[in-house]
Amino acid sequence: MEYTVIIPAAGSGKRMNAGKNKQFIMLGDKPVIIHTLSVFEQDPHCNEIILVINEMEREYFKELLCSFKIQKVKQLIPGGAERQDSVYNGLMKVEGANSLVLVHDGARPFITIEKIQELVKKASETSAAILAVPVKDTIKKVNNGLVEETVERSSLWAVQTPQAFHVQLLRQAYEHAFQTNFLGTDEASLVERLHKPIAVVSGDYENIKLTTPEDIVYGESILNNQQK
Ligand code: CTP
Ligand code: MG
Repeated sequence: MEYTVIIPAAGSGKRMNAGKNKQFIMLGDKPVIIHTLSVFEQDPHCNEIILVINEMEREYFKELLCSFKIQKVKQLIPGGAERQDSVYNGLMKVEGANSLVLVHDGARPFITIEKIQELVKKASETSAAILAVPVKDTIKKVNNGLVEETVERSSLWAVQTPQAFHVQLLRQAYEHAFQTNFLGTDEASLVERLHKPIAVVSGDYENIKLTTPEDIVYGESILNNQQK
């Protein structure tokens, strides 16, 4: 099934502390955002990429798209203060009332076409699906430096992007979130508030989000492994 993907890339990457938007950090021979975009560029089921950017970086994004021959980005949409605002701006540009829409962080360059296909297949059956991996660490609730409790691990999953939804469901979830002043860190948390079922598809542990400087070191080793 065909889909449109919204890629939020309008953050400033504060936790990465790189002095620039982390999307522009080089991984091997390409900036992070180009690794991410290339996967969707190569996926024949992806119709269009809606890239959400910081307006101040528009010219640089345009240059990158041109030099790396990314052709599925038809629109560069200005982002907002929070990730949720950025995705919302992108969502307003999705055409067609029956399409499937994916949202994928620009800072997750190791997504594979195989996982996208598994996710899309599931979302076409259920209207909502996300990628996630079982949590490996023991997780505890801590309050004022003291352990409150150990959370039962067997039901904990770390969620990733892409997350895939029927476009009308996602629009409804975003409208509801804004009306109720809810700010979430992923799309599923908005859809959950409509009490709609969301299917979970097993992801790859390597589909990390580049967030802090250690992630770049790990990212380079993932890239080297993929190229072997
Ligand atoms: N993002 C966005 N608009 C925002 C904030 C984030 O489009 N206002 C994007 C980021 O560019 C990133 C993705 O959402 O691709 C996930 O967000 P995160 O990892 O938090 O990135 P940043 O917000 O850039 O990083 P930080 O929170 O460390 O500042
Ligand atoms: Mg952020």
